[in-house]
Amino acid sequence: MNKINIAIDGPAGAGKSTVAKQVARDLDYTYIDTGAMYRALAWKALQSQADIQDGEALSALLESMDLTLSYTAEGNRIFVDNEEVTNMVRSNEVTASVSQVSLHAGVREQMVKKQQELAKAKGTVLDGRDIGTTVLPHAELKVFLTASVEERARRRHLENVENGRESNFETIKQDIQTRDEKDSSRLVSPLTKAADAVEMDTTELTAEQAAMRICSIAKERI
Ligand code: C5P
Repeated sequence: MNKINIAIDGPAGAGKSTVAKQVARDLDYTYIDTGAMYRALAWKALQSQADIQDGEALSALLESMDLTLSYTAEGNRIFVDNEEVTNMVRSNEVTASVSQVSLHAGVREQMVKKQQELAKAKGTVLDGRDIGTTVLPHAELKVFLTASVEERARRRHLENVENGRESNFETIKQDIQTRDEKDSSRLVSPLTKAADAVEMDTTELTAEQAAMRICSIAKERI
């Protein structure tokens, strides 16, 4: 059967990764969590005390590190220089610095190349902020997922509690708003809906319902 690429973009906490994973499972596609790639660099930068305002230093750091994703039904496992950092990249510290790390042009250029390489074989579902606009501008299906900020903060809070992470609803809401603003206002490939993306508000939808809708549109385009 013909395989396509599916780009899922949207603001923080809109359910992109849960929905993208479900779509990938349903279609037997590969899921690529591009946010985790930026998080891995942010983690490495914090570890090595790199200056996250310094784009050149971050580009050099990214070039020097071995960043690998492996795919499982539960999502991507992330490795930096052969060390698994899957859980560490979700820490509050990484979350607070990742939007600063991701705004540098040199960093984005390298990340986009890696992501395009991963998607080359088709049959992939990528989630992020710039997939439909920059990474895969010719993706056969582009979806822009949104939800109210309260609902997004509520989901992140629940996810943290379920995973035994320290969590405060108001702090998360504030963090989401700050990140959205930073991701939407950066100069290089800001978070924005591609002109040909299908917009889906998931405030009132479960992840399963959103995934089902995406799969049914995808099947029309395969
Ligand atoms: O999706 P997630 O919340 O894990 O993404 C973390 C951060 O990585 C985003 O807030 C954004 O700064 C950056 N990102 C990006 N482009 C992508 C994916 C993520 O700039 N394609």
